[in-house]
Amino acid sequence: MNLQIDQISKRFDSHLVLDAVSLCLEKVHTLVLIGPSGGGKSTLLRIIAGLEFPDSGTIEINGQRIVFDQESLLKHRRTIGTVFQAFNLFPHLTALQNITLPLEKVHQCSAGDAVEMAQQLLTRFRLEKHGSKRPAELSGGQRQRVAIARAISIKPRFLLFDEPTSALDPEMTSEVLDMIKELREEGRDFVLVTHEMGFAREIADQVALLSNGRIVEAAPVQQFFEDPRSTEARDFLAKVLKY
Ligand SMILES: Nc1ncnc2c1ncn2[C@@H]1O[C@H](COP(=O)(O)OP(=O)(O)O)[C@@H](O)[C@H]1O
Ligand SMILES: [Mg+2]
Repeated sequence: MNLQIDQISKRFDSHLVLDAVSLCLEKVHTLVLIGPSGGGKSTLLRIIAGLEFPDSGTIEINGQRIVFDQESLLKHRRTIGTVFQAFNLFPHLTALQNITLPLEKVHQCSAGDAVEMAQQLLTRFRLEKHGSKRPAELSGGQRQRVAIARAISIKPRFLLFDEPTSALDPEMTSEVLDMIKELREEGRDFVLVTHEMGFAREIADQVALLSNGRIVEAAPVQQFFEDPRSTEARDFLAKVLKY
């Protein structure tokens, strides 16, 4: 995908959360956003997802500008798959219904087509035995895998992941990361926020470090990890890679 983020600013009350963030990337498949907590990563992702309005600035994806009015954003949101840290699924619905509901209600699929598509996805991701379970009956890893299956069920233009494994126990992290890697290998484009540095290094084409509402450094993955240019990026990496 081509991503052009130009001077995006966002304030919550008096707090400047994004401070004229610009990032211009052509033909990127996997952009990984890293940075300290509170730095603005989720806010930026939510703006790209059309879930939040910026105060100023523009975003263009594949040459198409996001129009920040309610009606356009509704359409925009339907073309993007999003997976957040936790609480992605509707708790009162089964795994299968979690996938079929948006297909039917938002994407005008017939009930039969929606069930067929959901079953195919559950089978593909080795979740077929869990279709009739509610989220509370699934492990955290299974829940996130259902959430990812749902995100791709709508045939999104690209995916946004916001710390999809940070609420999981370590033994469940790898099953979710494996699934994300599989999506990467089939050529899907996504933006991923993560604290899993090993995974970031393995999967990213481009890495951007967002701290205090500013992009401190953005670079191809190898350069970012092996030869960071800014002191702030070096310090951040030294801290997160220490243990
Ligand atoms: N809806 C909101 N209202 C007020 N402040 C918010 C809201 N969302 C985020 N913030 C604040 O914006 C800052 C950046 O948050 P966030 O984008 O979640 O950072 P990150 O994902 O990098 O941890 C934080 O200080 C957070 O408290
Ligand atoms: Mg966040």
